[in-house]
Amino acid sequence: MTKPSSAAQRWDARYAASDEPPFGTAPNEYLRMVTARSDFDARSALCLADGDGRNGAWLARQGLTVTALDISAVATERALAFDRDNAVAVKRLTADLDSWSAKPAETWDLITLLYLQAPTGTRLRALDQAAAALAPGGWLVVEAFAKAQAAQPTMGPDNPDLLYDLSELRAATPGLTVVEALEGEVHLEEGRRHRGIAQVVRFAARRPG
Ligand SMILES: C[S@@+](CC[C@H](N)C(=O)[O-])C[C@H]1O[C@@H](n2cnc3c(N)ncnc32)[C@H](O)[C@@H]1O
Repeated sequence: MTKPSSAAQRWDARYAASDEPPFGTAPNEYLRMVTARSDFDARSALCLADGDGRNGAWLARQGLTVTALDISAVATERALAFDRDNAVAVKRLTADLDSWSAKPAETWDLITLLYLQAPTGTRLRALDQAAAALAPGGWLVVEAFAKAQAAQPTMGPDNPDLLYDLSELRAATPGLTVVEALEGEVHLEEGRRHRGIAQVVRFAARRPG
């Protein structure tokens, strides 16, 4: 059996210490905004780093066929319980974005990367895998703390290496057409952990075709 990575152990401990979903049970607001667009037409989704399941379960409730993965086995167990409570089926894997790859020719119409707080190498690899696994016309949707949030004591990591900027997102997805690339201050209402004013990036891009 493979030994869990230190990132897996850290996230397992964080979820185990929380008696409620740390990022809430409602879907991410930016994901909801993108899916409400008149040109959004995805039928399948891959949720990377889906945590305890709020976004994957919500997309399944909207009628999409959803696959989701997260490094934390504790979060994945909770996500499966949340799916059952919501009467949806999501294919969930416990997997590390440092090593996970989609099967050749496996593609999705929507891939989400919401608040993956991980070192630059992991984040860039995840973006590369996501861009490669998008179906023609498919959407990549990213929301995460911006590097400017490192200086804010309110929430999110204080290490800028775990945080995002738009130039990095653009450079990491050269084959995609950018639909929205925003960086700035928003008021988050996402569970106990992501609540209040924060500096974030919001990025939506599509595979041509
Ligand atoms: C801030 S939480 C966000 C969870 C979820 N996306 C949401 O918005 O509710 C970050 C998630 O990234 C996961 N994660 C961190 N490093 C990862 C990696 N290398 N591979 C896969 N998941 C990872 C953690 O286990 C955690 O669930």
